[in-house]
Formats: sequence, structure tokens, C-alpha cells
Amino acid sequence: ALEEDGEDKPKNRRFACQRITPLNHPNQKFTEALEFLEKAAELRMGDNSRSRALAFRKASAALKALPEEIKKPEDVENLYDIRGGAHCKGVILDILENGYSAEVEGIKRSDWYQNMSLFTGIYGCGISTSAKWCQMGLRSLDDVKGSYILNLTRSQLKGIEYYNDLNTPVTKEEAKWIHDAVSQEVAAIQPGSTVVMTGGFLRGKDTGHDVDFLISHPEEGKEKGILGTLLQALTKKGLLDYTDIQNSTVTKTTVQTGMDASRNTMDHYERCFSIFRLPKTAQSHRSDESSERTVAEDSAAMDVVPPASESSPSMDVTPANGTAIPGLSLLEKTNGSTTSPSEIVQKTEDSGRSWVARRVDFVIAPAGQYAFALLGWTGSKMFNRSMRDYTNKVMNMNLSSHGLFDKTNNCSLQAKTEEEIFELLKLDYKPPEERNC
Ligand code: GTP
Ligand code: MN
Ligand code: MN
Repeated sequence: ALEEDGEDKPKNRRFACQRITPLNHPNQKFTEALEFLEKAAELRMGDNSRSRALAFRKASAALKALPEEIKKPEDVENLYDIRGGAHCKGVILDILENGYSAEVEGIKRSDWYQNMSLFTGIYGCGISTSAKWCQMGLRSLDDVKGSYILNLTRSQLKGIEYYNDLNTPVTKEEAKWIHDAVSQEVAAIQPGSTVVMTGGFLRGKDTGHDVDFLISHPEEGKEKGILGTLLQALTKKGLLDYTDIQNSTVTKTTVQTGMDASRNTMDHYERCFSIFRLPKTAQSHRSDESSERTVAEDSAAMDVVPPASESSPSMDVTPANGTAIPGLSLLEKTNGSTTSPSEIVQKTEDSGRSWVARRVDFVIAPAGQYAFALLGWTGSKMFNRSMRDYTNKVMNMNLSSHGLFDKTNNCSLQAKTEEEIFELLKLDYKPPEERNC
């Protein structure tokens, strides 16, 4: 009966990639709590913390596809990914009865969580490093900076230096400005190239933790060499602060079999994780500072000409204002009432810079793999995970950001567009805005 339910009701299909998952839905308070618990489970690093985390995430994804607000426990009773989960049901019940989850609030207040989220908020600092620092008794960014034995990596040093900037969500306007700047350079380097802003912004989000760009060229091979030249050009213009370049590790096997990419979320494309210097004049109204702006500052900010027009972005712009943007942690943003890790940081880092630091990812894909790369880098992560799971279990195929491999017929399947990939997988096409699980 449950299987039939799945067939009849698009909102209760077995795999998240079979459901329509919009960005905005009526069950935000439930999904925020579940995703907080997902994060907390990951931070805990216990034996099965990965699978516990995934269970919370799947439950959240199931609720995101519901068009109606949950009013009573029975509303979620039959949902895939929830019906077997006593813990998730308990959390939902708690919120239904009290308006909040006591478990979530308890974790948020704990020293353990506050410390872990402070350290994992440092770019380049993962969960195990954070846990190690906590264990060493470090409690603040100053403690980390003051410790001589840590041997901080290049990315961690940047992560500490730009802690507030990098924990401030990137706005759509900022992302557009960066997109224009990048497109302009790429067009000069290799005419006819495409630069697509993928990730959360392509799915319709208003803010993101970074900006993701997929660069390609319709003629296979012409994409080669673009990344290095692009990074040089942006650096020369003073727009890049940090780059972490990963060379392509694509082999014939990874493309044809989709191997390891199905287990691992990392793909094999040439890519760069970077820190971009966004001129402050390029920031339009930020709601969190607009109340402090004067008319003069407003007009200064309005003057900005996007780089796509005749003037090129340069660093000798007049700082629009000296107002520090209050650090707003991404965690805080999704979890309402928490004290943000950045509030724990006493020092404000506004040092009179004329720019703010923003995370930007670049990935380069050749034309033949473009559709798969686009699908992979559009996300969401959960959407990709469910689509790969579905592909494997239902179609007996492997899907990765490089290609699709049919294990029954032992052959790889080509696709030029995302629509073709959905068709090969016998899935109804979902535009990016419906992949927000
Ligand atoms: P925010 O940046 O937080 O707004 O969300 P996002 O969905 O853009 O997340 P993120 O920038 O982390 O990743 C964007 C998409 O690229 C997601 O779907 C990820 O799964 C995907 N992605 C990130 N890194 C890799 C990678 O190494 N390989 C593949 N295939 N995909 C990746
Ligand atoms: Mn992103
Ligand atoms: Mn990214």
C-alpha cells in the first residue's frame, strides 16, 4: 500500500529526486530543527554519526516536499524517510506541542556546540580539527591565534583573518557582481565560453555560503587552460585573495563507470576554491546595515557600475562607508535564536579594507560531460545524493558529475542536457528551483 501511495502522490515518492522540493515551504520550523540535528550529529563524530545525520536530513527533505503545514503527528506518519524514525517523529511532536524542540535548544546552548560551531565556522577547519582544538582547551579565535603549536594551514589562516566576512551570507546582488566580473574575464580569455552560476543561487536562493561557477566551452578541448589564465587575470585586478587549485583527475574509468564519484561527493574536474575580494562599493543595500546608512552613503553605493559595463572592476575604489557589516553566522541564519559564533569573536575585523572577502568556487568541465557537471554542481547535495541512490537502486546505473553508466548493459550513456539525463533515468524533469531538498 505504501508503494502505491508513492506512485500516486508526488509528495510522497520514495526518493527525494522524485518529489518537487521548492525553496519555500510551510514546514520551516520542523526542517530547521531536523537539519540542526543533522549538523549536530556530524559534529559529534560518533560511530554511526554519519548515518544518524543522514536520517535527519532525509526526514527534513521529506517535509520540504509537503505543500501543507503539519498540524498533527498523523500528518507525517506515512512519509518515506520519517515513518521508521522514532527520533525524528519525537522532534516533530515536540515542536507541534511546544513550538520548539527542547533537544535542539539544549544543544544550541551547550559549550560543546558553541565551541564546535565557532571553530568549524573557520574556512579550512573541518570537524576533526575543531574537535582536536576543543580538546586542547582552545575556546576562542584568539586562543587559536595565540597558540604556537597548531601549524595552521594557509586556508585556516585566511579563515581566521576573514572570519566575519566569510560567515556573512553572500547576497544575490554580490553574486551577480562577481558573475559579471568573472564572465568578462572568461570572454576575453576564450570567446564563446559559458560561465554559469550554479549551486544554491541557481536553485533560487537569495543568499549562499559561497558562489559557484561552472565554466565550459561548446567546443570540447577549448575549456583547457581557461582556469589558470582566469585566476591570474582576477588576481592582477586585485579581485582574488586566495586560491586553492585542484588539477583535474579525470580518467577514462571515472567518466565511464561513474565509480567513486557515486560514493564520494568530490568529482574529478579541474577546480579552484578561492576567496574573492568584493569591492565594498559593489555591495548594494544590505538589510542588516540599511538602518545605519546615511543618504550620502546610499548614493555612494548607488554609483557602482557593474563590471560587465565599460568600467572594469578595480581596487582603487573609494570605500563606500566604514560601517562594519555585523557578522551574521550562517548557522544563526538558519537557526533563529542562537548566539552566533561570530558574536563570540570580540574583535571586529574591519581594518579599513575597501573590500570584503567572499568564498567563490570555480569548476571547469569539457563539453561532453557538461550536462552531468551542471546537474552535480546545481545540487542540492541531498538532491544529488537521492538521484544517485535512485539511479543505482532503481535503474542499476551509476550517476556522477561526469557521466551515467548502465551496469546492466555495461555501457556509458551520453547526454547533452539535464533534461536528457532525467529522461534516461525515467524521471520527470525538475528545474533547479524544485531541487531544494
Ligand atoms: P550554499 O553555497 O550554502 O548556498 O549551498 P550550495 O547548494 O551552493 O552548496 P555548495 O556550494 O557546497 O555546493 C554546490 C553544489 O555543488 C552542491 O550540490 C554540491 O553537492 C556540489 N559540489 C560541491 N563540491 C562538489 C564536488 O567536489 N563534486 C561534486 N560533484 N559536486 C560538488
Ligand atoms: Mn554554493
Ligand atoms: Mn561551493
